[in-house]
Amino acid sequence: MEGNDSPDMSTVSRHRFGDDLEEPAFSVSVIENMKEEYGLFVWPCSLVLAEYVWQQRLRFSGASVVELGAGTSLPGLVAARVGADVTLTDDSSRLEVLDNMRRVLDLNKLECKVMGLTWGAWDASTFSLHPKFILGADVLYDATAFDDLFATVTFLLQNSPGSVFITTYHNRSGHRLIEFLMVKWGLKCLKLLDAFSFMPSYKASGLRGNLQLAEIALDSEQAETTVLR
Ligand SMILES: C[S@@+](CC[C@H](N)C(=O)[O-])C[C@H]1O[C@@H](n2cnc3c(N)ncnc32)[C@H](O)[C@@H]1O
Repeated sequence: MEGNDSPDMSTVSRHRFGDDLEEPAFSVSVIENMKEEYGLFVWPCSLVLAEYVWQQRLRFSGASVVELGAGTSLPGLVAARVGADVTLTDDSSRLEVLDNMRRVLDLNKLECKVMGLTWGAWDASTFSLHPKFILGADVLYDATAFDDLFATVTFLLQNSPGSVFITTYHNRSGHRLIEFLMVKWGLKCLKLLDAFSFMPSYKASGLRGNLQLAEIALDSEQAETTVLR
């Protein structure tokens, strides 16, 4: 593939959405590079979040969406396909990941903004974001990055009242990770789902592990308590 350091490692994967496997409502193609560790691979959490966006498409149609740590960006691409106004973001220093997003947008003839957004770092473009939905697939994998990630998530939730962070994660430890983070950051979990409870069987059969989806919002009661103290 032109402009790619390792053409032999690039593949295009096709992802179908819709109830009818034979006649999907639409499909999205993603360019992956198997040599890359993180941002150029479609992680299972991304398949789960993309399917959730499709199933919840009426909420996303016409809404403003920011995807954090988007990598190959499948959930954001599905949101754009169902009519959302989408900004795809990833670490500002990962130029190859941001370039790949632009190639994938061209491939699918979709229009989204592409922006470098490193968790825990702020610039003028971060302040201009007012998403109704913040998406993050497999962004909870490195405990040393949780504080930076949740600093950004909490800022975006505050910058856009009524907004929600929807994240899918692989709960490898089995610990109550989400509950711990909610208390620490003054957030509340509106919904916590096992991925297998809503994935269609033809997609679920290829997934392994404890994959969860959480919808998270600011906890106004916790915030008030903090102010009163
Ligand atoms: C496990 S990958 C998940 C990629 C994609 N969301 C998926 O599920 O296929 C983690 C993503 O987070 C991005 N990332 C890691 N640290 C980051 C940071 N400090 N700021 C912004 N993005 C970061 C990586 O570049 C990568 O794209």
